[in-house]
Amino acid sequence: MKPEKIKEDYPIFRKRENLVYLDNAATSQKPRQVLERISEFYSENNANIGRGLYNLANDANISYREARAKTADFIGANPSETVFVRNTTEAENLLAHSLDIDGEIVLSKMAHHSEQLPWRRKAEKEDLKISYLETENGKISLEDARKKIDENTSLVAVSHISNVFGAENPVEKITEIAHENDALVVLDGAQSVPHMPVDVEELGVDFLCFSGHKMLGPTGIGVLYGRKELLEKMDPYQVGGGMIRKVTEKEIEYEQVPEKFEAGTPNVAGAVGLEAAIDYLENIGMNEIYSHSQEIAASIIEKLEKVEGVNVLSPEGANLVSFTTEFAHPHDVAEVLNQNGVAVRAGHHCAQPQMEELDINGTARVSPYIYNTRKDVEKLVEAVKEVRKVFQ
Ligand code: ALA
Repeated sequence: MKPEKIKEDYPIFRKRENLVYLDNAATSQKPRQVLERISEFYSENNANIGRGLYNLANDANISYREARAKTADFIGANPSETVFVRNTTEAENLLAHSLDIDGEIVLSKMAHHSEQLPWRRKAEKEDLKISYLETENGKISLEDARKKIDENTSLVAVSHISNVFGAENPVEKITEIAHENDALVVLDGAQSVPHMPVDVEELGVDFLCFSGHKMLGPTGIGVLYGRKELLEKMDPYQVGGGMIRKVTEKEIEYEQVPEKFEAGTPNVAGAVGLEAAIDYLENIGMNEIYSHSQEIAASIIEKLEKVEGVNVLSPEGANLVSFTTEFAHPHDVAEVLNQNGVAVRAGHHCAQPQMEELDINGTARVSPYIYNTRKDVEKLVEAVKEVRKVFQ
């Protein structure tokens, strides 16, 4: 991989030449290939889908269908199991609303609010018990999973890669334990699908949620994958146009999956943009992308650990780096980094229970992607040393 060359595809880096963008876990930048495909759709192909009988509407239908097929293929799923939603949060909310369960829910302490709150609300409303898997060295503890997932468990919702620590969780093993106990597995792939090969068949999970905007695609498009027989049994999340077969005064018949879950005019341009993003990622190769982020993160960890007063929380093998310092609040770290042209996220990262557990007010988080170079790492480390000078 040649990140210097890749960077040339991104108009934002031409406009902001000195920007060192290291907040990719929050959102990624967009290459011109994605921007052009979206613009081309609106300029040449735009019509509502599933309604018009004219050629233009038919072309728009085809574009949307192709985007779904590409997205499904990217995660080893069938198009009928691939529902377009707004983002990971909406996918989790849809599931928590529509999935019928009557046993206990197992979450993790490291869970992002969007993979935690929909299930907590469901548990409260339906009087279901929840337990939380412990974090051990930045990963979900498998030992704890063996203890807490049992025959009373109906559902296990975990993240593939935590947005706080950046390490891959033992998802295949957790899924095995869940399935031995007849529990369903919901995987939050927001931080994994953009970075590594993810195949739902290989992982064996029942549901997978992810967002397009963290993988070079536009905002407002995300995916809920679900095993077909499960999706078929679920009630729609929203009702309205585009998701029905027949409505009479007495009767409503819903469309089949996935349309049953896509009420209203969908984000067709978003889906087309996501398709372009997947083309772009596949062209580079998901294995190469994962190795690159891990290498950059490893080099950041190695260099930051040498700065006195820095405490790295991300374990070896992580693809992002969370750290605290003895000399400054994470927000102050981010502010001084910003003054040095380096963009990172600081705070609780939408994982307040995990921060509470660690007894910290937050971390500074550096999350690289395909366009980050060794030079970016140098600039970041120099800027962290600058923070130390300012606050010591
Ligand atoms: N989930 C995103 C993050 O971790 C927004 O920054």
